[in-house]
Amino acid sequence: MNPFLISAYISPDYFCDRESETKTLTDNINNQSNTVFFAQRRIGKTALIQQVFYFLKKKKTTTIYFDIYATQNLKDFTNQLANSIYSLFPENKSLTKRFWEAIKVLRPVISVDELSGSPQLSLDITQARQFEKTIPQIFQFLDAQNIKTIIAIDEFQQILNYPEKNTEALLRSCIQHLKNVHFIFCGSNQKMMHHIFNSAKRPFYASTKSINLQKINTGVYAGFIKQHFEKQKFKISKEAIDLILELTDCHTYYTQRLCHEIFAKGIKTIQPELVLQTINEILLDNEGVYFQYRNLLTPSQWNILKAIAIERKIEQPYAQKFMHRHNVGSSANVKRGIEALVEKEMIYYTINADKPYYEVYDKFLMLWLQRK
Ligand SMILES: Nc1ncnc2c1ncn2[C@@H]1O[C@H](COP(=O)(O)OP(=O)(O)OP(=O)(O)O)[C@@H](O)[C@H]1O
Ligand SMILES: [Mg+2]
Repeated sequence: MNPFLISAYISPDYFCDRESETKTLTDNINNQSNTVFFAQRRIGKTALIQQVFYFLKKKKTTTIYFDIYATQNLKDFTNQLANSIYSLFPENKSLTKRFWEAIKVLRPVISVDELSGSPQLSLDITQARQFEKTIPQIFQFLDAQNIKTIIAIDEFQQILNYPEKNTEALLRSCIQHLKNVHFIFCGSNQKMMHHIFNSAKRPFYASTKSINLQKINTGVYAGFIKQHFEKQKFKISKEAIDLILELTDCHTYYTQRLCHEIFAKGIKTIQPELVLQTINEILLDNEGVYFQYRNLLTPSQWNILKAIAIERKIEQPYAQKFMHRHNVGSSANVKRGIEALVEKEMIYYTINADKPYYEVYDKFLMLWLQRK
């Protein structure tokens, strides 16, 4: 089996580090605190939740995970919540049965999802006022089971896009009274998550503990890569490992993906040449998508993106040096371009570093741009 996972979480055996984050999250749960964290895309937020849940399940804690990225409003949110509780079945038959009793008045309908083939539950709620009752009812139902329950809501910033403006107040007021149910809120949009949890005037302010999820330490990742290749009788040179981590900037998904593809080749001795060959193949595979990005951006935005890729990290994009070297126009132009690129999640502004900097979000796109 390929030990470098690029999709679903399996077990701690294939999971690199995150020891202190796992401990803090677990401690918070044991101390009945809710936790929030946000981090860049593809850094391993969802996998961290799954790792914590892996341990919790062994301790007879009910774990509920749902991702609200695709939800548009409170109705979708409620259905998603009800669905994820319903899907605890068959692990917990009696709970599901009691849940069914509790929501019977909402005329739940089960259908089969055409894409996934799994059962989908939807509730017959038409009036806005009904949500204000239904969500607290569902949470209170869980609380009343006297089983410790952790609910992780992924891509939580999405609630800011709902047309119902009272969503934060509604959620905050119903979760603060729960005794057995605790929450993990997670999201990838820095600005929106900050808005929800750090604005003094908003309902969630000071209601949660936060953790800071950054890139995995390079030395630790290097050890993980070496160990997994060697375990399956591969030989990998130190130079090859360093190159993998340099090319992918130790950004979890990209590092995993490159290792996954190298492993898949089945060549038992791994040197830097093989790493370069593999990365070239990945970039070539993705090229169609990169050309599409170019069509979606203005020529000026594309130039700025390319300039940032070449710099890898840029602290002062408004400095003359940067603007001259890359011929990206006036500082007003660069400012507008950068704002648009951040908004489109093409570049990322890292603020929790000594000196904040901009970088291209997608590490493979960055490498491709550097070569054009
Ligand atoms: N600590 C880890 N060790 C090994 N692989 C990991 C680790 N964390 C994440 N991964 C892998 O990296 C990939 C990206 O992780 P994940 O999907 O959790 O990121 P994310 O931050 O939730 O991304 P997104 O913002 O796109 O939702 C996944 O394929 C996952 O299996
Ligand atoms: Mg995720």
